[in-house]
Amino acid sequence: MRENNSKKKLFLNIVREDRAKNDVYPTPKCAIDSLLNNESFEGNIWECASGEGHISKILIERGFKVLSTELREDRTVFGEKGIDFFKEDRKVDNIITNPPFCLAEDFVIHAIKCTNKKVAMLLRVGWLESKSRYKIFKSTPISKIYIFSNRLPFYRNGVWYPSGASFNHAWYIWDKDYKEGLPKIDWLIHTNEIK
Ligand SMILES: C[S@@+](CC[C@H](N)C(=O)[O-])C[C@H]1O[C@@H](n2cnc3c(N)ncnc32)[C@H](O)[C@@H]1O
Repeated sequence: MRENNSKKKLFLNIVREDRAKNDVYPTPKCAIDSLLNNESFEGNIWECASGEGHISKILIERGFKVLSTELREDRTVFGEKGIDFFKEDRKVDNIITNPPFCLAEDFVIHAIKCTNKKVAMLLRVGWLESKSRYKIFKSTPISKIYIFSNRLPFYRNGVWYPSGASFNHAWYIWDKDYKEGLPKIDWLIHTNEIK
């Protein structure tokens, strides 16, 4: 038993060390285009972990009023720097982001508190499981899940790999008008366009 636990710890450490610092994985253009081509958003949008602005820039191009904030402060950051989402109590119409995977649950809970209309989060399909999320799903029902049938392009060490992600991704939507019921599911094929 103890041996199993230490193996698990070793594995988790390897996985964690392998992940980019702060979970900095930018979103390819095809992912955000697919969302906007299928789901409507009214009012302003907060990209609350904006990174280099991969999502924000497309939202702005599409004519949305966008607030971009990011924890990191390096020169590559797009938007307001040094802003820890969890310390913010701003209220907006919508939040769209690809959150750091290791903090995804907390991002969802806080985003729901900060919005009047919709929250859209890019997460792994497998995020649907787990005992710890049961409560979130039951208390704040997901209205829609858009599953990518083809894998998204993936960025690693300065290089984009087309359809290279090792996980399936989906857009999860929470809509304030959707107070009870089960999520609708749809499937998307993206174009592989990166930026
Ligand atoms: C997976 S990356 C995605 C970046 C961007 N949303 C995109 O889609 O291209 C996650 C981002 O969350 C940022 N982040 C991590 N913790 C944060 C926090 N507490 N508040 C705000 N941003 C945070 C990371 O620095 C990183 O830029």
